[in-house]
Amino acid sequence: EEIYLRALGGVLPEFPMEHGELEERARAALPPSVWSYVAGGAGDEQTQRANVDAFGRWGLMPRMFVGAKERDLPVELFGMRLPSPLLMAPIGVIGLCAQDGHGDLATARAAARTGVPMIASTLSADPMEDVAAALGDTPGFFQLYTPTDRDLAAHFVQRAKRAGFRGIVVTLDTWVTGWRPRDLSTGNFPQLRGHCLANYFGDPVFRAGLERAPEEDLGAAVLRWTQVFGAPLTWDDLPWLRSLTDLPLIVKGLCHPEDVRRARDGGVDGVYCSNHGGRQANGGLPALDVLPGVVEAAGGLPVLFDSGVRSGADAVKALALGASAVGIGRPYAYGLALGGTDGAVHVLRTLLAEADLIMAVDGYPTLADLVPEALRRVG
Ligand code: FNR
Repeated sequence: EEIYLRALGGVLPEFPMEHGELEERARAALPPSVWSYVAGGAGDEQTQRANVDAFGRWGLMPRMFVGAKERDLPVELFGMRLPSPLLMAPIGVIGLCAQDGHGDLATARAAARTGVPMIASTLSADPMEDVAAALGDTPGFFQLYTPTDRDLAAHFVQRAKRAGFRGIVVTLDTWVTGWRPRDLSTGNFPQLRGHCLANYFGDPVFRAGLERAPEEDLGAAVLRWTQVFGAPLTWDDLPWLRSLTDLPLIVKGLCHPEDVRRARDGGVDGVYCSNHGGRQANGGLPALDVLPGVVEAAGGLPVLFDSGVRSGADAVKALALGASAVGIGRPYAYGLALGGTDGAVHVLRTLLAEADLIMAVDGYPTLADLVPEALRRVG
């Protein structure tokens, strides 16, 4: 309402009102190599585009005489009541998107101001304890890239709990970096590494591991210990992951229903359907298209979803297809690039405002009304 009233009063918004302009302005604001890291994806980015395009193949069927004067967006997730079904997806090295290099803290402050939970990446320029403190009363999740060293992995999870994070999101699709031509051609990787290891270098288990290395092997030890994505996990590792915490455990990157069933049987508390925004593997399926199968296989477990959400309308469609909560990725990073915390807050609020008004106009006042039958396949 506030956004609308300001516009009706002739006050021009400081930040873009739609995604195309947001993207254009973020591109102009960021150094080219940072832009290519954030905006880029795997291969020729076909999957990344397909993620976005998939939303255009669904439409919401309007219903009238509903009287949807009040909308109900709060959602219950892992025993928490959240003001809306949006989340900020984990974005590693997001420090680089903020002018002062502290994009992780700026994101946490945007979470504090909007109540939209942040999923804080392992790959952070600020230690997780500082990020958690900046969240205020808004819940946060810690996203784990499982380090090769199991003691270090366990210690990350312990630290996250102690810092006040309310759940652990283990990302499974990034034990190796995908084929990313844009980053390869800008020579980005060493630069990126330098801005994301605060959780490692401040960690006593990590430091002790380095100190144990014989002097002549120090270079090799640093390389081994900072193999940030760790080794690929298998199903045999799931009991170990589960044993690391009594916090809600969510596994990110699941697309195949069979994987969802196995994860559920393995005791996870939630699944996160995502193809990493098309950054990891090209030639894949649009994430939205695999969501219904994931929801069915999850058998009532919460299903988080991201990849390709660019508008409030997109969020509404993902919710209707069964997502319990919808992760926003690149758009809030672009907001950060334009205006730090204020820019990210703007992006989240405009997405929510659009979703809210769609639910009003189309007569779906509560999240429970958003069911698959509310959608029609276009074309
Ligand atoms: C990511 N993503 C990601 N995921 C994760 O689990 N840990 C991470 O550290 C990162 N890092 C990261 C960096 C950047 C620059 C981007 C854009 C994305 C993936 C992210 O959580 C989410 O899955 C995608 O961003 C969703 O796709 P869209 O909506 O951004 O296209």
